[in-house]
Amino acid sequence: MTHKKITLVYFSPTATTKTVLDAIAKGTGYEVDSYDITLSEARKKIPQDLDTSVIVFGAPVYSGRLPKLAADCFKQVSASGIPVVPVVVYGNREYDDALLELKDICVQCKGVPVAAGAFIGEHSFSTQPAPIAPGRPDEKDLACAVEFGQKISRLLETLDPDKKTGDLVVPGNVPYKKPSAAKGVPFIDVTDDCTACGTCVAVCPVDAIDEDDGFCTLDDICIHCCACIKACPESARIMKDGPFKDTAAKLHQTCGVRKEPETFFAQTQK
Ligand SMILES: Cc1cc2nc3c(=O)[nH]c(=O)nc-3n(C[C@H](O)[C@H](O)[C@H](O)COP(=O)(O)O)c2cc1C
Repeated sequence: MTHKKITLVYFSPTATTKTVLDAIAKGTGYEVDSYDITLSEARKKIPQDLDTSVIVFGAPVYSGRLPKLAADCFKQVSASGIPVVPVVVYGNREYDDALLELKDICVQCKGVPVAAGAFIGEHSFSTQPAPIAPGRPDEKDLACAVEFGQKISRLLETLDPDKKTGDLVVPGNVPYKKPSAAKGVPFIDVTDDCTACGTCVAVCPVDAIDEDDGFCTLDDICIHCCACIKACPESARIMKDGPFKDTAAKLHQTCGVRKEPETFFAQTQK
């Protein structure tokens, strides 16, 4: 490869992860190649034999872990010997074991983890009356993401292929947190404002919206990502009263103190 290329592979139902990864890529100054694996069709075409200088894997944090479908997809990428950067984006609560889980997947894909990041995005459950990390990533977050990209490109320039990269240490514990068991819990109401435009169907990562039944959400399939709520042009999709709305109200109260992005770098061994 004569010129430098950065490849982004990400799952991002409400686009905060995408926004952070785009800023990181901008910081490197490299040519950018993106694989958005948010929709089910895209997850059928896993990138293989990537000809790239570095791969950034990005995903939101769901209950302290990676969304399972994103993790399963990342595991199929072949990153043999390529520098990789795991990045998680979380809603100002905690990222718990998600970054470690993503770093471990990078190793499983035979990539060489050189850096990692945990950034903050507006919480998927955030609403106007009960905001959680509203407007994030904001200008300050994105400046940090650009700077992270610059540092990654400098690190890659100094990386001697004959010298092994030292361990990249990121926070997290093994065994990882137990995944949430919220499948099947009623989540979304469709109000009379629905115009049947089909936007919700087009953005759902798991095809959980039944157009033949009033665009209702199939609770056994839904992953609660809120893509349909955020994308609805009529604001006709709202959280039902119940456990999720209660969680959102609690997060609004408890996650008000601003967290800042964290970045980590591997030490190169002489
Ligand atoms: C089901 C679910 C679980 C979540 N769990 C967490 C969590 O454990 N900690 C946290 O800080 N944010 C959590 N979030 C918020 C997302 O990580 C955050 O909003 C992220 O920016 C969404 O990324 P996206 O815009 O790329 O979809 C959760 C969101 C969803 C939908």
